[in-house]
Amino acid sequence: MRANIAILPGDGIGPEVTAAAVSVLQAVAERHRHEFRFDSHLIGGCAIDATGEALPEATRNACLGANAVLLGAVGGPQWSDPKAVVRPEQGLLQLRALLGVFANVRPIKVSDRAAQFSPIRADRLQGVDMVFVRELTGGSYFGRKTRDADSATDECRYTVLEIERVAHKAFQLAQSRRKKVTSIDKANVLETSRLWRETVNKVAGHYPDVTLEHQLVDSMAMLLISRPSDYDVLVTENLFGDILTDEAAVLAGSLGLLPSASLGVGSRGLYEPIHGSAPDIAGQGVANPIGSILSAALLLRYSFGLETEAAAIEAAVESVIADSELTRDLSGTASTQSITDAVLSRLLSTTEIQAA
Ligand code: NAD
Ligand code: IPM
Ligand code: MN
Repeated sequence: MRANIAILPGDGIGPEVTAAAVSVLQAVAERHRHEFRFDSHLIGGCAIDATGEALPEATRNACLGANAVLLGAVGGPQWSDPKAVVRPEQGLLQLRALLGVFANVRPIKVSDRAAQFSPIRADRLQGVDMVFVRELTGGSYFGRKTRDADSATDECRYTVLEIERVAHKAFQLAQSRRKKVTSIDKANVLETSRLWRETVNKVAGHYPDVTLEHQLVDSMAMLLISRPSDYDVLVTENLFGDILTDEAAVLAGSLGLLPSASLGVGSRGLYEPIHGSAPDIAGQGVANPIGSILSAALLLRYSFGLETEAAAIEAAVESVIADSELTRDLSGTASTQSITDAVLSRLLSTTEIQAA
């Protein structure tokens, strides 16, 4: 197939991990005779430096015209002045809103090898395989904000429609998995959470084959660590999902391993690792590219319907994690480049086996 992929490397380790993912996509394209066109554009801090805007018009148009968007990360200390009027993170939020990608899918699988690097006991990590569906374009991220000398507000607002559409995504995903949805809220305190719970209950009526349970977010933060293998699909609002998925990364062994797909109504999606720009290790060539490479696999699956190619990337990554020297976040000495080369060589050898 032919497709245009907009590449937004961003800041910090963003360009390093995105280059790795692009080289994997290029290898897949050659192997399977696809024509992918990659165009890079500015977003975040580097865009502010070059144009004064976090999401310049050229980037907006390129993303709207692309079949899928692959993003690295935005932000860094040089743009973090609390008094700044323009911030890198605004570019990412504007992009999510522009593309209408309301459902952020974050899969968390724990491999036996990576489990060794998790501070969580290995017996608790057996069989962990869950997917968070985080609402991405509503809640306190997008509500009205006010600020005066001695007070500030971030309004948290949700509509029935916003809750319904993300809940449908979660139930549909559960139907293709273990048929269990856990909805996370704070319905004992927040009005938005009471609307959330009521609406999710109604949506559940369309999916009689899926079991629904509700958890309060505070106890969920504990259960995620104490009984992680109990969960299949977890659906929650924007801020809770942001926090709980970084917590869930501890199960997987490193934040650097986790990918995400942000999906809306059509097939165009936004794909990015869940980690940030990691300014503490940027420019050293030691960032773990696996979250970005797995995001590229999700791009092939969800935007292009290329399941075989997506699964081949995932199998190559799994095999590298099982027996290669890993990056520093997983107690190894491998560089971003050497892990990428290892994934590329496994990818080519597995594809050969499949073709034989
Ligand atoms: P971070 O995710 O950038 O880093 C947290 C820790 O994890 C750091 O120690 C970092 O070195 C490590 N880490 C993250 N990704 C890694 C990888 N691929 N390989 C190895 N180690 C990795 O979070 P932070 O430090 O709180 O935020 C830094 C900046 O990134 C902030 O400006 C924040 O707003 C931004 N941010 C952007 C995104 C995004 O663009 N999607 C996501 C989160 C944070
Ligand atoms: C993420 C990040 C972003 C978020 C920030 C950088 C706006 O933490 O993608 O998880 O909070 O959504
Ligand atoms: Mn986050």
